[in-house]
Amino acid sequence: MAAGDANCPAKPVERPSVEPVEPDAPATRSLDITMTRVETKIVPQVNAAQLVAELESLAAFSDSPAPAVTRIVFSETDGRARRYVKDLCATAGLVVREDAVGNTFARWIGSQPNLPAIGTGSHVDAIPNAGRYDGTVGVLGGLEAIRALQRCGFHPRRSIELVLFTSEEPTRFGIGCLGSRLLSGTLTPQQAMSLADKEGKSLDEWRMEAGFRGELSTVLVPRGHYAGFVELHIEQGPLLEQHGTALGVVTAIAAPASLRIWIEGEGGHAGAVLMPQRRDALCAAAEIALAVEAAAHETGSIDTVATTGVFDVFPGAINSIPLRVRLEIDVRDIDQRRRDSVLARIQSSCDEVAARRRVQVRAEIINADPPAQCDGSIIEALTGGAVRQGLDSERMVSRAYHDSLFMAGIAPVAMLFIPCRGGFSHRPDEYASPEAISNGVLVLAEALAELANS
Ligand code: GLV
Ligand code: MN
Ligand code: MN
Repeated sequence: MAAGDANCPAKPVERPSVEPVEPDAPATRSLDITMTRVETKIVPQVNAAQLVAELESLAAFSDSPAPAVTRIVFSETDGRARRYVKDLCATAGLVVREDAVGNTFARWIGSQPNLPAIGTGSHVDAIPNAGRYDGTVGVLGGLEAIRALQRCGFHPRRSIELVLFTSEEPTRFGIGCLGSRLLSGTLTPQQAMSLADKEGKSLDEWRMEAGFRGELSTVLVPRGHYAGFVELHIEQGPLLEQHGTALGVVTAIAAPASLRIWIEGEGGHAGAVLMPQRRDALCAAAEIALAVEAAAHETGSIDTVATTGVFDVFPGAINSIPLRVRLEIDVRDIDQRRRDSVLARIQSSCDEVAARRRVQVRAEIINADPPAQCDGSIIEALTGGAVRQGLDSERMVSRAYHDSLFMAGIAPVAMLFIPCRGGFSHRPDEYASPEAISNGVLVLAEALAELANS
């Protein structure tokens, strides 16, 4: 198995191990642009020891004690983590720029810099009490894929651009993939301007404080800017590990939706207000949370999932009847119609609970995104890369959402998954082995090389 090799030379080798092969076949790629394909034989090698050390250094930028990682977008810690990544990119000779929302681009300029680039990347923000691999493997692994290609003397025709997306996690603003939504035009600047954290501090204030200025309208990237985008990520599920498969090639990304629900009843003294008079917002919210769970079960499909992840009670005192509750609910499916049927069921449960318990319930859909299909030619590039590296792969859907879901709006995309222990993610014991990470980086490097010269 051609796993990563800590002995791989850290500096560029003197003699490029790139052998151009006769471009005898006309364009075979289905990327936006049809061009003669120049095949190359390259022998990238991953410096796994360095990459693992970098992942460890990045994990140390955290607002919770190790092994947990907490890195909320626009926090000071997020800023220091970004600085660390940007410095690594600059050291690799990449040209770094940032947009008005903090999306960060590190470009390896190709020999035909005006051609649409090939993008790769992910995010470095982390939800509270998270692990160290979610997103970071796609950013630092993407950087290592570029460095591995540089070391083996590969010269890309198209530029290869590493992207660090702002706020893939919804922690601060309640909406995931903020940077990629804005970049792809899924979220308008006007919609973004109305976003705020739960204390009411706006996205605009947060980004300015973090040093990201300029009009949000400038974040938009047109279709055709990228010829393709490929994201390396931990699977965040157990299948690869269970099947003993080295890599997952993602064919579709599930359709996520999120809701915010406010329940308002009547507060009062926990001793003095008798039970028949009560309009307890928490009890109503608890019924709604159970209805959310039931709505997902009722579709009968294992692919439907629904989670009440936020349950915020006001005033939150033991001797006070809850007056107000805010719920945040995440619903996903690979089938959009079935996902929407769950949203409709949740809404009718809200109406029913409101009437029976004499409370006010207001539900707001924060987002309800369609699923994304991955691009056949990028899937083939990843699968072919795995074959060349002697690694087995399987096709799978992504049940988690990713920035690639939104990049699919402006470019052909696909994703490459590596196994993570027990399928655990969004928790401190999230773990991917150096071998699994190296495998992913190697195959990403193979695919980037092929796509950059397509
Ligand atoms: C991404 O972090 C997700 O929740 O799928
Ligand atoms: Mn995540
Ligand atoms: Mn992620």
